[in-house]
Amino acid sequence: MPNTVLIGAQWGDEGKGKVIDVMTEEVDLVVRYQGGNNAGHTVEIGDEKYVLHLIPSGILHDGKLCIIGNGVVVDPSALKKEIEDLEERKFQMQGRLFVSDRAHVVFPYHRELDIAREKPSAEGETIGTTKRGIGPAYGDKSSRRGLRMGDMLDTQVFLELVKARIEENNRILVALGAEALDASAVLSPLREAAEFLRPYIVDTLPMLNDAVAAGKSILFEGAQGTMLDIDFGTYPYVTSSNATAGGACTGSGVPPHRIDRVVAVVKAYTTRVGEGPFPTELEDDVGAHLSREGHEFGATTGRPRRCGWFDAVVARYSAALNGADYWAITKLDVLDQLETIKICVAYECDGERVENMPGDVRRFGRCVPIYEEVPGWKSSTTTVTRYEDLPANARAYVERLSELTGVAVGLLSVGPQRSSTLRIAL
Ligand code: IMP
Repeated sequence: MPNTVLIGAQWGDEGKGKVIDVMTEEVDLVVRYQGGNNAGHTVEIGDEKYVLHLIPSGILHDGKLCIIGNGVVVDPSALKKEIEDLEERKFQMQGRLFVSDRAHVVFPYHRELDIAREKPSAEGETIGTTKRGIGPAYGDKSSRRGLRMGDMLDTQVFLELVKARIEENNRILVALGAEALDASAVLSPLREAAEFLRPYIVDTLPMLNDAVAAGKSILFEGAQGTMLDIDFGTYPYVTSSNATAGGACTGSGVPPHRIDRVVAVVKAYTTRVGEGPFPTELEDDVGAHLSREGHEFGATTGRPRRCGWFDAVVARYSAALNGADYWAITKLDVLDQLETIKICVAYECDGERVENMPGDVRRFGRCVPIYEEVPGWKSSTTTVTRYEDLPANARAYVERLSELTGVAVGLLSVGPQRSSTLRIAL
């Protein structure tokens, strides 16, 4: 398979885990390149369900190598637990999972700062973060106050450095009205995690360079989604990394011209967790129906996801930003019972028609969707295995999404299982 970047084209939770799982069959390596354990990829194999936060879902396939790249922020205790859980379920981890020595560490004070800044009483607006410390960890990386996974290898020096940072961050925590952390309670689990993770921490660049030179195929696994990208999302209601395709290069060290194609994952409707504008949001029975049928609860925090119609303005913006070669459309089956379905084709804002995504979040918040309505198909699609066998209205809906966005459909998912996947061009 060509080297492929797979990204989320909406606000995350597009069902990337399942698409990655299906595509992993044909690759040698899977690389995570941004985000941290704010992500949650759910994969169902037979009766088994796996929710992965940091480890690429390629780990569920025998013989595939998985890399956590330099662009990821790693909570060592969370990673240790994820490895232990998979080991308990009989997955071989050592020799298959590699963590970049350049990836930054998420510390307990990052989590506490995230929680303190998200208190409704805190100054400024809340973002609705996952409270995993992601923003503060990336903040330290940019401020050059971070520590990296490679620093953990010299445990003694590492713990000394962490101790000094706990003292500094305690002053900030107290100023924010939160409690100071007890250094020894932080250092002891960190020491344990550092020892446990030692065999996994390497310079991942030579591995990736060798893989590219040997013609091996790599799948770059994006987390979150385009509208949560720190630069191109609905800032400030975004995550703190580049969730768009460009992040695959900076977050792994693989150069742009070694990437062959981009697959963008979209839900057949839209969801969003956390705060921020969402023009096609439905706060009515249809929204409740989508939430119920789509089991729309966050894989990481369990929070209910806000649900709405498919937004072609968002999808066109994502297609352009990511250079999407194909859509992987997920959860088509969630629309199975609807009488009619709406598609947002443009917005109306301040008295004018808007075709392109506004850069200003306040203007975006004033956008009202202009809808096109199409008939539903009122029958189950979950057991369909060939595109031609889908109800005519379901095919018409999919083809309309492709037409409105100018991107071909490569794959369609009609249920959580691997078997409920229609491979069209991928
Ligand atoms: P953070 O990444 O925890 O800082 O959260 C920032 C925003 O991104 C919030 O709106 C979160 O709900 C959202 N977010 C972070 N990770 C995910 C994800 O994996 N899926 C969907 N939303 C996410």
